[in-house]
Amino acid sequence: MRTGKESVKKLPISDQFIQELKSRTAIEEVISEYVQLKKSGRNYMGLCPFHNEKTPSFSVSPENGFFHCFGCGAGGDAITFIRKIENLDYVEAVNLLAARVGMTVPKDNRDDGMGRLKTRIYEANREAARFYHKQLYAPDGKQALEYLRKRQLTEKTIIHFGLGYSPASRFELVNYLKSKGFSGSEIIAANLANQSKKGNPFDRFSDRVMFPIIDLRGNVIAFGGRIMSDIKPKYLNTSDTPVFNKSRSLFALQFAKNKANGQLILVEGYMDVIALHQAGFENAVATLGTALTNEQAILIKRYCDEVVICYDADEAGQRATERAIGILRPTGLRVKVLTVPNGKDPDEFIKSYGEQGSARFRMLLEKTGNDIEYAISKLRTEFNTDIDAQRVEFFNRVTPVIAGIDNPVERDVYITRLSEELNVEKSAIANLVRKKFRRNESKLRNDEQKRAANELSAINNKMNKEKRFRLRAASAEEALIAVMITNPDIAVKIVERVQPELFPTAFNRSIYEILSQRVKSGREISLEDISGDFSVDEMGSITGIVASHPRENDPAAAAREYIEVLEDENGRLTPKQIEQSEPQDLNEYIKKLRKMKDKR
Ligand code: GTP
Ligand code: MN
Repeated sequence: MRTGKESVKKLPISDQFIQELKSRTAIEEVISEYVQLKKSGRNYMGLCPFHNEKTPSFSVSPENGFFHCFGCGAGGDAITFIRKIENLDYVEAVNLLAARVGMTVPKDNRDDGMGRLKTRIYEANREAARFYHKQLYAPDGKQALEYLRKRQLTEKTIIHFGLGYSPASRFELVNYLKSKGFSGSEIIAANLANQSKKGNPFDRFSDRVMFPIIDLRGNVIAFGGRIMSDIKPKYLNTSDTPVFNKSRSLFALQFAKNKANGQLILVEGYMDVIALHQAGFENAVATLGTALTNEQAILIKRYCDEVVICYDADEAGQRATERAIGILRPTGLRVKVLTVPNGKDPDEFIKSYGEQGSARFRMLLEKTGNDIEYAISKLRTEFNTDIDAQRVEFFNRVTPVIAGIDNPVERDVYITRLSEELNVEKSAIANLVRKKFRRNESKLRNDEQKRAANELSAINNKMNKEKRFRLRAASAEEALIAVMITNPDIAVKIVERVQPELFPTAFNRSIYEILSQRVKSGREISLEDISGDFSVDEMGSITGIVASHPRENDPAAAAREYIEVLEDENGRLTPKQIEQSEPQDLNEYIKKLRKMKDKR
C-alpha cells in the first residue's frame, strides 16, 4: 500500500535476510546512537527525535524490536527508525543496518548465500540424525542402546524422539556426510564437526547418546549428546549456528505445542522431558542447558496460558525457578511451581514409582500451587513466625507479594488465609497490603497517562480519517490486526475466515489485505517482517496499534470476538444509507438488527 512519493518497486530483499539482520540488530543500540535512552522496566524511554517534547514519551521495546512515540504516534522497527531519521528508502536503510553488523545485502534473493547455507545445514542435520539413529542398532552402539533401556526408555520412545548414538572414532559422521555430498565447511558450519589445527573437520560428538533438537517446522536444528560415563561435560550441545539459536529454542516444543491444551510443563533436562512424554505428559518442554530467556517465554506464551515449572529440587533448581517466574509472569502467563519431593528430578521421580509413576506425577501436578503460593510458602520457611521480630519481617516481605496481585478477590483470599494461619487481624494485614499497593499506584497512573495520550493520538490519527466516524468498528479492526501480528500462529485461521471486505475503514482494510496476502503465501508477519511493505507513516500507525493492545490471554477467543464485532458492524448502515434506502430494504435491515440483538 505504498502511495505517492513513498512508492517503491517490489521488495528486493529476502525475508530470510531481513530475519537474520533483525536477529543480529539490537534496536536499543541503533536508537541510542541518536537518542539518549533510559531503562524503564522492560523498555527504554527517551525524548522523541521526531517531534518537540520536554518529557519523554518515546519508548523502545528491545523484546519486540520496535519503538513507539506516545506523543506523535511515530513508531516501527529498527529499519523504519533509520528510514525516518536518516531520510532513506527501505533498501538504503537495510544496507546501513546490515553494514553495522557486518552483513552484506544479497543482490538477488534467489542467490542468497545465507539462505542456501541454511538449507544445506538443515539437510546435513537430517542426514546426521538418521546416521546417529542407525548407529544405535549397529554393533558399536550396543552399549548406548543398553544405556537407554536401562533408563527405562521404550523402543517406541527411542523412535519417537529419534534418539541415536555418535560413534567414538571422530571421523565416521564426517566421512558419511562427505559421501552424501556435503563439504567440510558445510559440516563445520552445522557444528556437526570441529576443525582440526590442519583445517580438517572431525566429528564434534563422540561416544554419546544423541538427542536431536527439532524446530516447529520439523527441521533438525541441533543435537544434545550425553556421555555414558562420568567424563565431563555430561551433556554437549550444538553451539549456535545459522539455523540454531539456543535461547530461542525449546526441546520437544514441536510435540508439546499440540498437546498443550492451555498448559506447558517446563523442566530442566532432556531426560526429564522424555520420561514425562513417555508417562503421558506430552506437554513437557526443556531449555537447552541454559537459563530460561525472554524469547523462550514469549514462545511459550504462544502455545499456552499456564506454565508449570518443574525444576530440580536442589538449591540451583530453586534459584532457577525464581528467575523463571520473574521472566514468565510479565508475559501474562499463569505460573505454577511443582516441587518434586525427596530431591529427585521428574525423571527419577517417575521411575522410582515404576508402574505407578504416571499416576504419582499426576497427583503432584494436581495439587501444584501457583507462583504466589510458592512465594508465600517459601517465605514461611525463611522466617520463624513464632518469634515476634521475625514475624514482623515476614509480613514486610509477604505483603508486597500480595499487593502485586491485580485481582482484589484473589488478594483477599491470601490475606484471609494468612490471618487465619498466623492468628493476625485481617484488617492489619489488609492495611499493610494497601500501603504497598498505593506505592504501586503512582506507576499505574503513569501508564494511564500514556494510554490517554495514545487514545488522543488515535483520534487525531491522520492516517485513518474514517476512524472517528466508525470508532467501534475501527477499534475491532485494530484489535484484530494487533492480535494477528502478535500471534502469528492463529493468523491462518483468521485469514481463512475474514475477507478484507469485512473491514469498514479503508486504511485498516489495506493493512489487513497485505497481512493476509503474506499469510497466504506463508511469509512472516511480525512488525519487522512487514516493514518493507509499508511507508514510514503507515508503520507508525501499525506499531501504535500493536503497542496499544496488550497481549491477549486467549488470542483465539479474542480474535473471534473482534470478528463478531466486525460482522455485526458490517450489517449496520450509516444514517445516510438509511435515508437513501428503499423501504423494503429498511425493513430487512431492522429485522436483521433485531435478530442480532436476540443472539446476544
Ligand atoms: P541425566 O543425568 O541424564 O538424568 O540428566 P539431567 O537432565 O538430570 O541432568 P542435569 O540435571 O545435570 O542437567 C539438566 C540439563 O542441563 C541437561 O539436560 C542439559 O541440557 C544441561 N546440562 C547438564 N550438564 C551439562 C553440561 O555439562 N554441559 C552443558 N552444556 N549442559 C549440561
Ligand atoms: Mn536426571
